[in-house]
Amino acid sequence: MKENISINIGGVADFVSLEELAAHTRQSLRHLEAVLSRTGAGNDFLGWVNLPEDIAPQLSRIESMAKHLRSISDTTVVVGIGGSYLGARAVIEALSHSFSHFSKDKTHTILYAGHNVCEEYIYDLLEVLEHRNYSIIVISKSGTTTEPAIAFRLLKDQIERKYGKAIAGDRIVAITDATKGALRSLAELNGYETFEIPDDIGGRYSVLTPVGLLPVAVAGYNIKELVEGARVAMQFTRGNKEPEKNPALIYATVRNILLQAGKSLEILVNFNPKLHYFAEWWKQLFGESEGKDGKGIFPVSVDFTTDLHSLGQYIQEGQRILFETVLSIATTPAKVKVPFEKDDQDQLNYLAGKQICEINKSAESGTVIAHNEGGVPVISVNIPALNAYYLGQLIYFFEMSCAISGYILDVNPFDQPGVEAYKKNMFALLNKPGFEDAGRILREKIKR
Ligand code: PA5
Repeated sequence: MKENISINIGGVADFVSLEELAAHTRQSLRHLEAVLSRTGAGNDFLGWVNLPEDIAPQLSRIESMAKHLRSISDTTVVVGIGGSYLGARAVIEALSHSFSHFSKDKTHTILYAGHNVCEEYIYDLLEVLEHRNYSIIVISKSGTTTEPAIAFRLLKDQIERKYGKAIAGDRIVAITDATKGALRSLAELNGYETFEIPDDIGGRYSVLTPVGLLPVAVAGYNIKELVEGARVAMQFTRGNKEPEKNPALIYATVRNILLQAGKSLEILVNFNPKLHYFAEWWKQLFGESEGKDGKGIFPVSVDFTTDLHSLGQYIQEGQRILFETVLSIATTPAKVKVPFEKDDQDQLNYLAGKQICEINKSAESGTVIAHNEGGVPVISVNIPALNAYYLGQLIYFFEMSCAISGYILDVNPFDQPGVEAYKKNMFALLNKPGFEDAGRILREKIKR
């Protein structure tokens, strides 16, 4: 039997007693039950709970579409923002060669658009695409989000000029709501292939729908393995009512006990930069789910050992308001050893013959102990290997933990009302019809 991801809370022992943990974890079970019985806040957005099973009938179509896009193009631009972007990027970057654009095995390049409104970014992208044979996957659940809509307007214009409208239409796939939104109408009008985002799955919980799976499949990775990992995690989180043996219950509980003890900032730590975007996905998941009603743990992330030379000082000795969750990967394919040098001018011969990953592991263990002794509680998530299967497990584990944690906090973990505030101001400042009065008020404020 394959090993599963697991959680190690040895690094919180000085901050959380076993009795406290046991009592709180029993209470958390109530919140898991609310998720499963669909009785908690936001219960019309629980489609992700069964998704690893429910998505199975769609996998073949997603794979065929990926094969088609790979056969007609060497590059795919994935257009989307937030939950319509981060999950795909998290998985693709975690599985890709560190220098994928230069890798000799590279068969297909994924580029991203619509996740900012930076003119230089889109200008540079359009310039690059002039010389690429490309397709587009445009993703927006609402179909009306400004950033991807602007990017898609520009890309559509360019791809139609490059290939002609009919051929361009065959190179564009839209992933959106089944019936509503401008993107749905646009897709129908232009005859694009489409995939649906179910009504009951919010953006940040949508990575295991076509939103995440199609880009991952186009990048050449095994979506069946990813979904299988999630399915197994569904069993050991959703199906596991034994509080001490359910890592999602323990993680959700521990982070909330730490919050009550004044640890209001959680740092997701990796020692492999391929997990950088996984942390971006995690930040959105927890940040949007919990940060409301004046509550929530502020989620941040670091790439170690890089950031040990920037934020490391603060983590070790700054305000004691933080805790760390370390993504700890057990095995790395053995590829590079430190060579022996006769003269030992750099005095590194004490490392000669060691794998780089062994050195990294020592950095990890040393860091965990140092931070812990400096007053930082540390939770470790043990990941047997960095592959699609365990990424699937991690995704589901964090999704379930986040839902339970949101309920512990007594917030609705499935809405994001606060995201509208900046949009309203931006629309007003851009004179969007209907926002004229608000625009006048804002311009006055800016003058002042
Ligand atoms: O989690 C969410 O719901 C958001 O981050 C959305 O995914 C994001 O705002 C993009 O929305 P849409 O897919 O409607 O373009």
